[in-house]
This record gives sequence, C-alpha cells and structure tokens, in this order.
Amino acid sequence: MKAFTYAAGRLACEAVPLDTIAAAVGTPCYVYSAGAMRAQLAAYQAAFADRPALFCYAVKANSSLAVIRTLAAAGAGADTVSGGEIERALAAGLPPAKIVFAGIAKTDDEIRFALAQGIMQLNVESVPELLRISAIACELGTSAPVAFRINPDVDAGTHSKISTGRKEDKFGIAHADAPALYGMAASLPGITPVGLHLHIGSQITSIEPFEQAYRRGIALFDEIRAGGVPLRRLDLGGGFGVRYRNEQPITATAFARMVKGLLAGRDLELVFEPGRTLVAEAGCLVASVIFRKESGGRRFLILDAGMNVLIRPALYDAYHEVLPLAEPPANAHLEPMDVVGPICESSDIFGRDRYLPLLESGDRVAFLSAGAYGAVMASDYNSRMSAAEVLVDGDRFAVIKPGRPPRAQFADEVIPPWLAAEVS
Ligand SMILES: Cc1ncc(COP(=O)(O)O)c(C=O)c1O
Repeated sequence: MKAFTYAAGRLACEAVPLDTIAAAVGTPCYVYSAGAMRAQLAAYQAAFADRPALFCYAVKANSSLAVIRTLAAAGAGADTVSGGEIERALAAGLPPAKIVFAGIAKTDDEIRFALAQGIMQLNVESVPELLRISAIACELGTSAPVAFRINPDVDAGTHSKISTGRKEDKFGIAHADAPALYGMAASLPGITPVGLHLHIGSQITSIEPFEQAYRRGIALFDEIRAGGVPLRRLDLGGGFGVRYRNEQPITATAFARMVKGLLAGRDLELVFEPGRTLVAEAGCLVASVIFRKESGGRRFLILDAGMNVLIRPALYDAYHEVLPLAEPPANAHLEPMDVVGPICESSDIFGRDRYLPLLESGDRVAFLSAGAYGAVMASDYNSRMSAAEVLVDGDRFAVIKPGRPPRAQFADEVIPPWLAAEVS
C-alpha cells in the first residue's frame, strides 16, 4: 500500500490531504499512515503464517506510543534497547511477554525493571552483562530468559554507520566464544538460556548477507542444542531495507522462502525485529518554504524544517524524495534547487539539485520515507518549534504528539540561585 499519493492535485496520506493536516497542525510535522504500517506488518506475518513467528517491532525506529500501539494491535511485539523503550512499549499496551530487550550495555536499573516486568527475553552482549543479569535475577528470586547476541562477522554491505555484524563492530559476542558461553550460562543461577540472537545492520537490500549470517547462526544454534542447552527461540533481528530513492527492497515472500529453506525440519520459535521496514515508507515530513534565494550561482529553497527535525541527510548522507504538496502540472517548469533547512550548520542540507517548481514562501513540500529514524532522532538544537506528529487512518487523523515551542523546551531548566541576581 502506498501511503502518499496525489489525489485531485493534492498530496494525500490515505484519504487525508496533507495540506489539511498542515493547516490544522502547522509545519514542520511528521505524518504517518496507519494503513501502510499494518500492510507492511501483514505481509511479513502472512509470509511466515505456517511457522511460529513473532514480529517484534524495533521501537527505536519510531517510538511514538500511537505508532507502537498501531503495530501491537495488529499482532506485533516490541524490540527495545533501553528501560525507557520498555516503558514506552508497556504504555502503548504491549504485554511484557511480547517484549525483547536488546542493547549493548544494560544498566542495573534497566535489568531490574525488565525482570520485574517479566519480559520475554533479554538479548545479552557480553560476559559482564550476563553476570549482572544473573546477580540481579537471584536478588529478585527469578530466572532471566536470555539469548546471546552473536556477531556473525558478516558485512551487510550497508552504510558503515548502520552496520553491526562485522567482527570489528561493537555489537554481540564472537561466534567462536558462543558454545563456551552457553555452557557457562546454563550453569549460572538466575539464568535460563532460551535463544540465540543476531542482527547484522540496517537498510540491507540484498538477501545474501542475511542468508550468510543466518546460515552461521543456525549452525551455531544446532551446535548449542546438540551440546545439551535446550534453546527454543531463534531471533534473527531486523535490518530490512526500504525504498528511499530507487532501492529494490527484499520482498517478504522472497525473504521467508530463504529463511524457511535454511530452517527446514527444525522445531523452533522465530523472532524478527523489523523497525525501518514497518514505518519508513509509511511516514513523511511536511515542511513549508520560508524563502527561496539565489547566491553563489545556486538556488536555495529554505524550509522551516532542518537537521533538528530530520537528521538523516546530515548524519548518513541519506536521500529523501521531496514532493510539493500541490501536484505540479505535467508540463511544469522545474528548476534544480538546493533544499536546505534554517539551522546554522553547513551540513543542514536535505538535497542538492532537486528538480522542483519555483515554489514560493508558504508553499509546502513533503519528504518521503521519513517515518523511521526521523522524529525519534530530532533535537532541540537552535531552539526552533519541534515537529508535531500526526497519525492518519483512512479519512481520520489525530495529533499523536504536539510540536513543542521553544518555551516548552526550556520550561524545566533551572537558573541556580547564585546566578539569580538581576542581569544588567
Ligand atoms: C538489535 C536490533 N534489532 C533491530 C533493529 C532494527 O533495525 P531496522 O530498523 O533496520 O529493521 C536494530 C537497529 O539498529 C537493532 O540494533
């Protein structure tokens, strides 16, 4: 399902024109299609309908409560990487038994909180962490269900900043160390080894790295089981790529065919941790033109959204397609433009030489595929109005997070008493 299409000359999310939302809420604002999220999840669920498989939505991709709830209501669990994300998943209505907790270094408080809630599984990334979990579980009189995150040493062929499964990456434990660690875990008090976990990176659009990593992971899973540790769950992580420009994402069917081929004959529960694929193309960022200006031989379109709202272009050189909310006529004259934000940083550039109509102050544009790693990575840098978030479902829409004006951003800041004297 396409979340954003032109209808009667206006770009719409499902049945709601984006300019209706922008007029009601202001810009910048993120807009998400509930239908597109559900459709993505349903494609994966259908592809694995003949096997026990739980899709734990990686909350980090977009942690708005309404987004988590939309996916939870459609049958997803949650993959979390902090105590705060567990709190969000619970607040969104997820049962603890559908929450996995990953993350390279969990604090004592986070471990205690996760165990007290009775979550499904803790994905462990080091021996010191395992020992802390063991101690805290004993203190609480419980046993922690754990999976080790294995680093399969596979290059996912994606951007270096979102690659996690090479041996030099900071994530997971070395493949070669796993058998000994499972042996140790099985004999530790307060620990119940239940599974094996891996995740090799994000925005992966070719099936080979997944296949290579999974093959290694499954061989190891077999070896651990044969060694007498009764693992029942294989958590194959997330990382499924989406279309930003002209990428060809792996289809759920092709992916399922590959995984089921590798798993033939094995009795186990599958867990996946898709983040980006469930929400990226379901979301856009709407922004307004402040000014258009020409200087140094270039034409700049300056928007009211910048790297404070969507940092992916500045951080990862990410590409987001830009569409005017008013559909340009077929014969419209387009000009190359540098689309930039208002932030005082040279890297606050969304794209160079984008062919657009000569938009004027107040005209609006949408950045597509902005539903993942967009709003969650926003900051208050430069103290500008933050972006509101809006959820659309059919012909309904609701603000799921209001924009915060600068005054609200500093409302809890404190000037210490010794600075209280009047400034003259
Ligand atoms: C352990 C783990 N699982 C799942 C994900 C989600 O990845 P994606 O959004 O690419 O599906 C991540 C992302 O960094 C992760 O670290």
